[in-house]
Amino acid sequence: MRTALVTGAARGIGLATARLFLEDGWRVVMLDRDAPALEAAAQGLDNVLPVVADVSVGQDVARVAQECAGPEGLAALVNNAGIADFGPIEDTGFDRWRAVMEVNLDGVFRMTQALTPALKAARGGIVNIASISGLRASTLRVAYGTSKAAVIQLTRQQAVELGEYGIRANCVCPGPVRTKLAMAVHSQDIIDAYHDAIPLNRYGSEREIAEAIVFLCSERASYITGQTLAVDGGFEATGVGLPALRR
Ligand SMILES: NC(=O)c1ccc[n+]([C@@H]2O[C@H](COP(=O)([O-])OP(=O)(O)OC[C@H]3O[C@@H](n4cnc5c(N)ncnc54)[C@H](O)[C@@H]3O)[C@@H](O)[C@H]2O)c1
Repeated sequence: MRTALVTGAARGIGLATARLFLEDGWRVVMLDRDAPALEAAAQGLDNVLPVVADVSVGQDVARVAQECAGPEGLAALVNNAGIADFGPIEDTGFDRWRAVMEVNLDGVFRMTQALTPALKAARGGIVNIASISGLRASTLRVAYGTSKAAVIQLTRQQAVELGEYGIRANCVCPGPVRTKLAMAVHSQDIIDAYHDAIPLNRYGSEREIAEAIVFLCSERASYITGQTLAVDGGFEATGVGLPALRR
């Protein structure tokens, strides 16, 4: 049985991804730093190993790597854990900037580095979760958007360097999904504006993002590496999206 490790698996996109892996016959290591939420999420699921850990803490990451070390290795690593903190540049103190970078960027670096031996053993696949905020700049996202743009480049670095071990690395950039993370920073005005700016006129679902992630981890994507896939209802493709230019 192939093993996938999903970070931020207690809810939202990470939980939907863990469930889809299970449906497809994988074993899943569900990692999250929110212990009660993780326990609730893992309850009743077979073939899961819940692991309480923080991807931004070196000791936690080292422990996870030890727990995942085995002859069968790790066939998929999904670096999904992330936080959002939106605010103007002038109000974003260095502590807020670092808090976002520590999880969204440093966490992806730490986890991938620590789990590379396990990924080598299984010639596994990495999927890093960035965002449309890493593809297009926006107000109020100086830390979040920059962290996600860096994740896109980090993915390419991983693909280029780890390819010789048979390890693939790809990046998924979700559009807006109604998770706890998004709802904490999306006001009704923002929700309405997103509907207007997205060609498919709606938010995506956790499941729709998970489908792309699990595909990229699977054998079906065996020759795909170093790519960035926006799963965003067409948002990124929109160039001059002026309402006045519509019919
Ligand atoms: N929801 C959206 O609209 C959206 C859009 C684009 C990108 N994303 C990205 O998708 C990913 C998942 O987001 P979501 O919307 O499902 O969020 P969410 O807040 O619903 O879930 C995130 C999970 O990650 C966990 N987590 C956070 N920091 C962690 C850490 N340091 N170590 C371990 N676990 C940690 C949280 O406890 C939570 O269970 C994030 O990287 C986010 O930036 C989300």
